[in-house]
Amino acid sequence: MMDVWTAIEGRQSIRAFDTERPVTDDTLRDLLNVAARAPSGSNIQPWRVWVVKGDLKARISSACEARYLAGDEGQGEYHYYPQHWRQPYLGRRRETGFGLYGLLGIDRKDSEAVMAYRVRNYRFFDAPVGLFFTIDRDMELGSWLDYGMFLQSIMLAARGVGLETCPQAAFCPYYDSIMPLLGAPEEQMLVCGMAVGYALAGAPVNRYRTSRLDADEFTHFLGSGS
Ligand SMILES: Cc1cc2nc3c(=O)[nH]c(=O)nc-3n(C[C@H](O)[C@H](O)[C@H](O)COP(=O)(O)O)c2cc1C
Repeated sequence: MMDVWTAIEGRQSIRAFDTERPVTDDTLRDLLNVAARAPSGSNIQPWRVWVVKGDLKARISSACEARYLAGDEGQGEYHYYPQHWRQPYLGRRRETGFGLYGLLGIDRKDSEAVMAYRVRNYRFFDAPVGLFFTIDRDMELGSWLDYGMFLQSIMLAARGVGLETCPQAAFCPYYDSIMPLLGAPEEQMLVCGMAVGYALAGAPVNRYRTSRLDADEFTHFLGSGS
């Protein structure tokens, strides 16, 4: 099993998966069981996971893709991003987008090429498994913190068994198509999706490695002595 440092350092969003390599339900169950060791305030474990494969996954993909291609941007039930972009976040966001499209040779002004790439989100980047994460609507911000830890635990544990992931907020605007297909209850909200599978060897998009600030740029070391 991979050590924790390597698992964290090597994790990156994978956007091309091997369609020939399925993932068994037993593997997913192991993965979700270990990830559910993530902490949550008062151990309330606010997560609910929906595993989609095969025909249902295809139906969800088609529904989202059709809306996206028809120009329907949808609207998520929560704001993932700030309502008004400003620095330094805007610059970081641009760097990430330019880097990814640059690697893929996509001109950002070529709307057809951008759409053709973005639509791959709704196909889970060809991953054999899609996960959807939901939360009870009446849960507070603290539970969303818990959720983040759970999601990261899944992504790291996946690496321990040779799997890779891409978290996907791209599904959120189409929650009203997705939730009924899942059979999710009305009182639940869609948090995000996630593609899970084996990385497609040699795919250029999987070479994209995002930058990070150095710890000294976001940390205040205060006080003196040990
Ligand atoms: C909650 C969440 C949702 C995301 N949604 C998407 C998405 O819909 N599509 C996508 O390609 N990447 C998505 N990402 C991936 C981010 O773009 C990525 O994590 C970021 O650029 C850092 O890159 P890295 O994951 O390779 O380290 C998402 C990440 C998070 C944490």
